[in-house]
Amino acid sequence: MTAAEPILEVRDLSLSVRTDAGVAHILDHVDFSLMKGEVLGIVGESGCGKSTLIRTVLGLPPRNARIGSGEILFRGENLLALPARQVAARIRGRAIGFIPQDPFLSFNPTFTIGKQMLEILRWSGLPDEPEGTKWDRQTRDRHRTRLVEVLRAVQIPDPEEALTRYPHEFSGGQRQRILIAGALAARPDVVLADEPTTALDVTTQMQILKLLEELARQFDVAMLFVTHDFGVVAQICDRVSVMYAGQTVETGTALEIIDAPKHPYTEMLMACHPERSDALVGIPGQVSSPIDPPSGCRFAPRCPFVESRCTASRPPLAGPAGGRRIACAVRGAPA
Ligand SMILES: Nc1ncnc2c1ncn2[C@@H]1O[C@H](COP(=O)(O)OP(=O)(O)OP(=O)(O)O)[C@@H](O)[C@H]1O
Ligand SMILES: [Mg+2]
Repeated sequence: MTAAEPILEVRDLSLSVRTDAGVAHILDHVDFSLMKGEVLGIVGESGCGKSTLIRTVLGLPPRNARIGSGEILFRGENLLALPARQVAARIRGRAIGFIPQDPFLSFNPTFTIGKQMLEILRWSGLPDEPEGTKWDRQTRDRHRTRLVEVLRAVQIPDPEEALTRYPHEFSGGQRQRILIAGALAARPDVVLADEPTTALDVTTQMQILKLLEELARQFDVAMLFVTHDFGVVAQICDRVSVMYAGQTVETGTALEIIDAPKHPYTEMLMACHPERSDALVGIPGQVSSPIDPPSGCRFAPRCPFVESRCTASRPPLAGPAGGRRIACAVRGAPA
């Protein structure tokens, strides 16, 4: 079910980075809305700009980045117009939580889980704590209680005792559960998850996805879920936004897009899924470099339906905001 009110909107976002090899145009007019209470998948091949997008929403764009256009609206407030200090103090890790990709690299091996999680909560605080709350025994106890609560929610056995253990005493799947608990601890409205299951084996991946889906409902958080896997989309996402080489090419409900992809890239990406094909198939060619990218539609050099107008100008994302939209000069607006 999709609620109608957006909580996070990325509008027309373009970002480039100065590198030794030239200017890399990483995000090109990216556009999507995350509605309250929904899980929105951001799907695309490696290198299409998913992590850059997530980091920019968190207020951590690459060094030397330049925002060429656009807004990131969180509850209607443009985060790009806020001083970095405010994003760090009010938004990142607090109103917007983050689940990283790799549970093996995301902990310091020399401190207990409890020490690391308490330290993070000390920075972010809890939403019902007034700014400048003293870090005293009472606050610490309150934070510890909250950590036990979220560790229980992610099904870590004996959460009290878990806080006294070190990262290496947990399996990869358990560590990913702990990272999820960490992202939820400060009661965020939105959680950004950057491929949170790719480092795990398939069975553990399924369990974590199921858990994330349940938690999103239970804690009433909206989730932006980055993945390159349509199998994952089918399992967890309400809606999907497909990216190619830094451009948003198609958005719609997960059902619509899986049933009837409209953009040639989405169609071909889905055909690559092992469940859809006996032979190992891929999309011929490779994602173009963000330095000197093709003009117009960036998929044009790999697209079997390409016409001259595709490279003349970037096709706009046609269709109603928050509804089914497609950016393709040949296929046109969705019916
Ligand atoms: N700091 C940077 N400087 C220069 N180029 C960068 C920088 N960060 C990312 N890029 C380039 O931007 C493009 C997008 O990278 P990004 O990591 O966002 O992709 P991704 O979709 O998350 O890929 P993956 O699925 O492999 O995680 C890539 O071509 C990458 O090389
Ligand atoms: Mg990435």
